Formats: sequence, structure tokens, C-alpha cells
Amino acid sequence: MSTTAPIQSPPVPERLPVTLPALAERKERGEAIVMVTAYDYPSAQVAEEAGVDIVLVGDSGAMTVLGYPSTVPVSIEEMLMLTAATRRGLRTPLLVADLPFGTYEQSDEQAIASAQRFVKEGGADAVKIEGGGRSVARAQAIVEAGVPVMGHVGLTPQTATALGGYRAQGRTAQRALALAQDALALQQAGVFAIVFEAIPAAVAAEVMPLLRIPVIGIGAGPATDGQVLVFHDLLGIYDGHAPRFAKRYANLRAEMARALACYADEVRARAFPAPEHSYSIDPGELEALRKELARGADERGAGSAAR
Ligand code: KIV
Repeated sequence: MSTTAPIQSPPVPERLPVTLPALAERKERGEAIVMVTAYDYPSAQVAEEAGVDIVLVGDSGAMTVLGYPSTVPVSIEEMLMLTAATRRGLRTPLLVADLPFGTYEQSDEQAIASAQRFVKEGGADAVKIEGGGRSVARAQAIVEAGVPVMGHVGLTPQTATALGGYRAQGRTAQRALALAQDALALQQAGVFAIVFEAIPAAVAAEVMPLLRIPVIGIGAGPATDGQVLVFHDLLGIYDGHAPRFAKRYANLRAEMARALACYADEVRARAFPAPEHSYSIDPGELEALRKELARGADERGAGSAAR
């Protein structure tokens, strides 16, 4: 028999909540930042377990979980409900929520009020708004009101119609330059990070050295500081169109449909529930119940004969 003590594995350090300075340090150290969308309690818990750095309650949830044809119709109340549910499933990742279309464009006051609702009612750590141009002033106003902001340039789905549809952006020198200028203006306005969506990898690589804040890419190639994917695209749950950059790591929709069909078959064949899914009762109690039911039946029979 061995007398040596069993080797104890060192305790796994507890993950600390991801903060804005921690993200900046990650960029500094060249460590990739992992971001994913989530829209509810279970998807947030899965993101937590996977150890992602940033969870985005994207307005993509309008399409992936609410079934709208685009991100445009989703209301602030719907997004707040998704954000609050996501918050309840998270401990460590930074929680960012998208300000939906029509809730920040009108004025700085509107933008601040909407952003503050996401912090107070949804439990978000930060908000994301789309676009350069007038969104830059909105971003600055929200930051100055005390809510951290993430920018979003390139393909901005809320204004996809104006961009000519869901297509890659910045594909001419002039448009790529405009995109770089938007990103720099957003940085100047105080955003803590920017999403680059659907732009040529080479354009992202040219713009990256100009920015000191973290850039998270989706369809923007490998040069960005981090990557983001939509939960339902990544896991193969969404049945709508998936863009070319949406790498699928699982096919859960097929697996879910298979499981539900199996359940339906078992119910119809009366194979479910089995004894292990049912509760038992003491045989003596069951006998007493039977006697009571029989006595009641006799009494009901006698009553109806007398009428
Ligand atoms: O709504 C969303 O999911 C997004 C990501 C694509 C960045 O904005």
C-alpha cells in the first residue's frame, strides 16, 4: 500500500467578472476576446459555462427568438425582457445590450433614456448602438451620462435597406475610408469597443492599427481583437438565412427535432411515461382509496335509482 498522499490538483481560479479595463488589458496583451449573443436564461448560462468574455443581447434576437423578419420591428420592452432574462443567467461575462431601432436616433435625451433603461431594468453593463455619422454624437451623450457604449460599423442591420441590403461593406477605397473615419470618430466619442461587421478582412487589417480600443469582428477576418457570432447560427438552431461568416459548430435544430419526434412516437405508442417517470403510493393507501371510490360509486348509484 502506498503511503504517499494523493496528488491534489491545484484549485481552479474562479473567473472574475469581465470589466472594461480587463478588455483593454486583453487587447494590450494580444489575447483574443470572445463574444457571443444570448437572449435568455439558458443561453446565458451556456455562455457563462463556456467562459466567454462578452455576451451581447443582440437585436438579432428579433429574428432568432422572436421570429420577426428583420431586427427593425423589435420593441424596447421586448429587448428589455430578453436582457433581464440573460442577466439572470450570467455572472462573469460583460453584458452588452443592443439599443433597438428607433430608440436612440431622435435626440441625445432619447438615447440616454433608452440606455439607462437597459442598465436599470435589464441589468446590462453597457449598450451597443449601430452606425457612425449622427450615432457618434448619441454614443458620446450616452457615455457622458454614465453608460458604457460599444459601437458597430460596417453592415448595420437596422439600416440594411439604406446600405443596399445585407451585404459586405467597405469594398471600395472610398467606402473603407468612410468606415475607418466612423470608427475613429466613435473611439473619440468614448466608446469602449467597436464591432466590425461584414467588411473585407484586408480592410479590417488596415484599420486595426489606427484604433486603441478593442475591435470585435463578425465577418471581418482574423485581424480584429476578438470575434462575435450569433448563438443560434453558431449552434445550428436558426432556420433562416445564415451569412457566409456564420460558422456552424453544431446542428442542434436537427437534434432537437429528432428528440421531439422520438417523444411524440413514444407518447403515441404509450411507451412514455415508463414506471421510472411515475410516482408510487403505499399499497395500503391505494386499497383504501379504491374502497372509498367504490363506496362513493355505490352511493351515487343508489341516489340515482331513488330519483
Ligand atoms: O444583433 C446582433 O447579434 C449583433 C451582432 C451581429 C454583432 O449586432
